Amino acid sequence: MGFFFMEKKYQIAIDGFSSCGKSTLAKALAKELRFLFVDSGAMYRAVALYCINHNVKIEDSDQLNSILLDINIQFKQEQDTLQIYLNEENVTEAIRDLKVASQVSEVAAISSVRKKLVAQQQKMAESNSLVMDGRDIGTVVFPNASIKFFITADPLIRAQRRYNELRAKGNPSIDFNLVVENLRHRDRIDSTRDDSPLRKADDAIEIDNSTLSEKEQLQVALTHLYNKFPELKN
Ligand code: DC
Repeated sequence: MGFFFMEKKYQIAIDGFSSCGKSTLAKALAKELRFLFVDSGAMYRAVALYCINHNVKIEDSDQLNSILLDINIQFKQEQDTLQIYLNEENVTEAIRDLKVASQVSEVAAISSVRKKLVAQQQKMAESNSLVMDGRDIGTVVFPNASIKFFITADPLIRAQRRYNELRAKGNPSIDFNLVVENLRHRDRIDSTRDDSPLRKADDAIEIDNSTLSEKEQLQVALTHLYNKFPELKN
């Protein structure tokens, strides 16, 4: 072993449709393995929030390219939770708003936005082992990821989960049908866009978590991971 021994870095890629429980699994895996957790969707949401707050016309590519230079997104671990900052402002809560959810897919379909965020995501993996969830992690961001999972769940179960989450976060009057509609809308745009559409990588392991608890889902993923990398089990 040479003096310049580099510690092996692992990338765990988790992709799937909206509200499938990807982030829940990614967070739990990162905690178990003490890896960095990166919610790549939060980065697209931060760009969408910026566009909403600054009245950016996303179809105006000149305007969009110039604002992309002004956008700085950072993750900070604070008291056991991951906070996201947009130009020094904590936007962890603001990016979960339904207004952001209803526009983020259009923003995420723009190639210049994807180029900037993908580069930042790849950079994070240079110095960290990480678990990253999103739509193109196993196909575009880390095509050679250590392991790839593709998460699926029944659409109505997904809508119910998102509905419960929004209500728990202080939206008591939220309309269930609106949540279903928003999920359908995002699924369609995410999987039919030209640049990096959502699809399962050929070598991804599919997990349908419709009937799995969070704990069971974690166990399924860990079993696959430890089979492949026994050295991670300690
Ligand atoms: O996972 P999420 O719902 O927070 O993602 C928000 C949006 O960003 C969603 O419309 C898909 C898009 N997205 C993407 O295109 N690529 C990623 N790697 C992550 C999210």
